[in-house]
Amino acid sequence: MSLKNYLAEKKQIVDAALDAYLNESAVYPPTIVKAMKYSLDAGGKRIRPVLMFAAAEAVAGPSEELTKSVLPFACAMEMIHTFSLIHDDLPCMDDDDLRRGKPTNHKVFGEAIAVLAGDGLLAEAFRIMAAHHNAVPVERRLEVLCDMAVATGARGMVGGQVIDLESENKKITVNELEHLHELKTGALLVNSVVSGAKLAGATAAQIGAMETYGDSVGLAFQIADDLLDIEGTTEELGKPAGSDVENHKSTFPALLGKEESRAQAQALMAQAIESLAMFQPRHSILAELAHYIVERKS
Ligand code: IPE
Ligand code: IPE
Ligand code: MG
Ligand code: MG
Ligand code: MG
Repeated sequence: MSLKNYLAEKKQIVDAALDAYLNESAVYPPTIVKAMKYSLDAGGKRIRPVLMFAAAEAVAGPSEELTKSVLPFACAMEMIHTFSLIHDDLPCMDDDDLRRGKPTNHKVFGEAIAVLAGDGLLAEAFRIMAAHHNAVPVERRLEVLCDMAVATGARGMVGGQVIDLESENKKITVNELEHLHELKTGALLVNSVVSGAKLAGATAAQIGAMETYGDSVGLAFQIADDLLDIEGTTEELGKPAGSDVENHKSTFPALLGKEESRAQAQALMAQAIESLAMFQPRHSILAELAHYIVERKS
């Protein structure tokens, strides 16, 4: 299957499930579910769920049962990511007005509801992972759930966002910048492939290889995002181009220049692909995803 079809197929499965999960026992105030759905429905690439499925399938081969086991975790990951975007756009953070081609959550619902929509999505993510039982042994499911908490919180994405804010208007070293990117963006991307592998019953060696792949694509993803911020258009990106310059962010192109940043992203892509050797012949979607992450235009 081509990557384009693979992305479209998984996006469809994830979009339908996200809707279904949010409609389960829907006894909450209408405003909050409207605000949560507004940002979730806004057409993200669903790259983290796709990585989770692709990693699971690289380990165990595709099957209906595997899709059923991975789906709640893939949707939980997308909810956590969407929560991070809603908060990232707030006036107290990056202060951006456009996300996924639509006005940002706080522009439509106000800051208080936007904060709460993020909180609601985060809690809903953990509900879905705990409530939806499947063929995966309960110890493994708990391990994945715990990993996701670590990747999301102060030891992961949230910690990275703090360093990002504290690195505005500052000259930091390349090592410090790599650390910042590994946390704010890498943590959820690494977790996506590691969770997929664990849910598919991966061995320790397979999990290790997924971590290596995830580390490389995670950093490459944020370098590409930094480059797109200066090279892409607002229309292509569906979010404001030039946001990083305006906020005096520490980014790869700001520190190393565009050429060197591009070279680093390419090198990371090659490293990521190398780390997939043990999954042959089921490695090709993950290899294509590494290309896509670096070459994408949005
Ligand atoms: C944007 O993530 C935020 C970063 C971590 C750089 P994506 O580029 O995956 O955004 P969506 O989900 O497609 O909107
Ligand atoms: C944000 O990085 C990463 C998150 C944890 C949301 P950016 O601030 O660069 O993401 P964009 O460019 O706004 O999507
Ligand atoms: Mg930010
Ligand atoms: Mg931002
Ligand atoms: Mg960015």
